[in-house]
Amino acid sequence: MKKVIDIIVGTRPNFMKASALFVIANKFPKLKLRLIHTGQHYNDLLSKIFLRELDLPKPVCNLGVGSGSQAIQTGKIMKNYEAWMLKNQPDMCIVVGDVNSTLACSLVSAKMNIPLAHIEAGLRSFDLTMPEEINRKITDCISTLLFVTEPSAINNLRNEGHPYNNIHYVGNVMIDTLLHMKKKITSINLSKKFAVTSKKYVFMTLHRPSNVDNKENLKQIIKQIIELAKFIPIILALHPRTQKNLNAFNLMNALTNANNCKVIEPVSYLESIALISKSKFTITDSGGIQEETTVLNVPCLTLRNNTERPITISHGTNTLINNDWSLFKKTIKQILENRYFKTATNIPYWDGKTGWRILNICEQYLSQPKT
Ligand code: UD1
Repeated sequence: MKKVIDIIVGTRPNFMKASALFVIANKFPKLKLRLIHTGQHYNDLLSKIFLRELDLPKPVCNLGVGSGSQAIQTGKIMKNYEAWMLKNQPDMCIVVGDVNSTLACSLVSAKMNIPLAHIEAGLRSFDLTMPEEINRKITDCISTLLFVTEPSAINNLRNEGHPYNNIHYVGNVMIDTLLHMKKKITSINLSKKFAVTSKKYVFMTLHRPSNVDNKENLKQIIKQIIELAKFIPIILALHPRTQKNLNAFNLMNALTNANNCKVIEPVSYLESIALISKSKFTITDSGGIQEETTVLNVPCLTLRNNTERPITISHGTNTLINNDWSLFKKTIKQILENRYFKTATNIPYWDGKTGWRILNICEQYLSQPKT
């Protein structure tokens, strides 16, 4: 009998991580993977398009939770996933990343004594004002298998008392997908679709509550962006949270009327990677983009005070801006004058084989007799 594994997705950054497992699933005939969509992200541009592009199967169920406060969203996912589990019990549940869907399904799985595996375990920003940091810490506490992407995560987990045997340094599934999709990405015609010239524009994304939910912070970022656009065109792919707040804070017009600032809808995965790889540099507050810019060797300015992915600074192309706008301008000047010398170095296990290592460990775990 095949062992059944539920793989949970809910938001945009989850789909590329799950894809790395599904594309190699046929190499593991003893396992049956089921894709469970919580419905946390529900519009086509944040969800459906990714399922299509990333060769993911149709989810076996959609929990249909949609938007809500932190508690409402988490609670709804828990209630609906528990109902699914009661009827369709898996042998294991795999969660990825740090979003509300990750935490909610982890809690359900652990309370029903289903072995839980966390992909991207151990990452820590040490900033408990971020919902994602709370999600990560609690998920790790109740996980059976902890799959880590970088050495800092091993230290964090060891410092929190996790036994060595539960921690597996397997690499980065996001990079598996990036490498897998490379051919498709190079075939995208950016100048036709977005009217940009290779290495002559900046790609930008922004959605963290700390940047976009506070009017003064968002106003300051927009001011800096409008100023930067005097020197190089900017293309900003707008997340719904940011769009809502730009409108609420009356900042949208200033941004869209600025010369050289192109505000577009959220882009697909392939378009996003193509836009990053051909940009002169990227400005973001996303966790995944810090990793993708590192592998693509594109300078990345991160509009945050911390990162849970320090390897992108020590071994990659990332610089944290820390609300320091003089550092922002100084770093941009270096990049534009080709004096930014942070380049990507090879990171162990970011080699396109992480998904295989993960499923191999899961298969071995599930083949052991239950104690
Ligand atoms: C969530 C994750 C974040 C991840 C991000 C990627 C949590 C706590 N946060 O943040 O870690 O980096 O996804 O996008 O889980 N909305 C839409 N359409 C949708 C989905 C959301 O319009 O398909 C709107 C919602 O109504 C809400 C806002 O976008 O007002 C934010 O959505 P939410 O899921 O709460 O969190 P994100 O900011 O997307």
